[in-house]
Amino acid sequence: MKIAVAGTGYVGLVAGVCFAEVGHDVTCVDVDEAKVKVMESGVSPIYEDGLEELMKKNNATGRLHYTTDYASAYANAEAIFIGVGTPEMPDGSANLSYIATVCRQIAESVEHDCLVVVKSTVPVGTNDKVEQFIKDSLEKDVKIEVASNPEFLAQGTAVHDTLHAARIIIGTESKEAEAKLMEIYEPFGLPIVSVKRRSAEMIKYACNDFLALKISYMNDIANLCELVGADIEDVAKGMSYDARIGERFLNAGIGFGGSCFPKDTKALKFLAKQNGYELKTVEACVDVNTRQKTKMFNKAKDRMITFDGLKVAVLGLTFKSGTDDLREAPSVENIKLLLEQGANIYAYDPAGVPRAKQQFPEGTIGRGSITYVDDPKEALERANICFVFTEWPQIREVKPASYKELMKTPLVYDGRNLYGLKEMKDAGVEYYSVGR
Ligand code: UGA
Repeated sequence: MKIAVAGTGYVGLVAGVCFAEVGHDVTCVDVDEAKVKVMESGVSPIYEDGLEELMKKNNATGRLHYTTDYASAYANAEAIFIGVGTPEMPDGSANLSYIATVCRQIAESVEHDCLVVVKSTVPVGTNDKVEQFIKDSLEKDVKIEVASNPEFLAQGTAVHDTLHAARIIIGTESKEAEAKLMEIYEPFGLPIVSVKRRSAEMIKYACNDFLALKISYMNDIANLCELVGADIEDVAKGMSYDARIGERFLNAGIGFGGSCFPKDTKALKFLAKQNGYELKTVEACVDVNTRQKTKMFNKAKDRMITFDGLKVAVLGLTFKSGTDDLREAPSVENIKLLLEQGANIYAYDPAGVPRAKQQFPEGTIGRGSITYVDDPKEALERANICFVFTEWPQIREVKPASYKELMKTPLVYDGRNLYGLKEMKDAGVEYYSVGR
């Protein structure tokens, strides 16, 4: 089928590439000319395992195209997927301005009947507005239908998550729209759940917020474990055998980050408020997460007289491993606090440094400074204190003995529970982690 995809971020690009992979004829549209050139040369603008191989393969088959010329991409498309961002507004609501721009462009460009599919995460009811908006602005006498098809991929495993999704959710208001989406997804051979549009929109938030709740719950329990002498790792293990609870997303740590959970919890809270409802569970989840993010810093602050002039090793910058994304990463807030306190930070991350430099340019910042290093051991050399913020394998590989040997004071605050308490103690490291 002839498909156009608006937006080439995680959602749009990965969807476009995977549609081409299963045999559709796909044109990815982006406003950025330079980005289009990069993608045409088979280079991925995002850090995503396996994506570049599929781009190169499908660029070569002639099934995958990129353009800034939205009018030609949308004119004859049978389906147009919208995968642009819906960032958070200061009040916690979702910013729909990128969606609106694409809708306007679709309305002025389509020349044939076409299905518009909203993949971006949007508040319940947005698809109705999208349909009305496009219909109101159409230039030609064509039939447009709008469907919801939320995305469940996680960064770092986006291609795998798309090709092997647990399920495809489609939300439609007509048999024709449902049939067309079924046809598009048929080659994936995955279970399809077909519901009404508003339910599809809600499923996306309900899933993300449930997972975020699960993490906040584990963090809350972890904090209590610390106070009563239990070990959250053992507790999580014991819980994981119960199939009703499940074994994934039970890792306590320094709170969730990224471009989705923080934004989607606030957006659902906002939607509830708008409808006169207090969504207490999600509100609690957000509060616990906010507190959790600076937990390690506050623990360290209780132990230290000052951070002023100290060498502070920071291992891990990204919001999780397998990505170069620092959005809402717990490291960011902690680095700000450390800099305010005059710390000289030596930061290591295998993928996040270029983006970190945009936010914290190398050199002096306020009372403190930041230096980026290529090897975790360089960060640890003569350091007074170390913080672990991301669970990268490269950080996990650093042996307990290395902290003792390399650091001036072997003092480690680990927000990811990468090490066993005993191995750190045996190595002579003063070690603080979460919930143990
Ligand atoms: C999340 C969802 O997992 C995807 O299903 C969804 O499609 C995506 O948001 C989205 O809405 O686009 P993502 O943000 O890429 O994906 O990352 P996750 O792997 O879910 O991790 C989110 C955060 O939770 C990370 O900071 C991670 O470190 C943290 N986390 C995760 C924990 O603290 N503990 C856990 O047990 C699991």
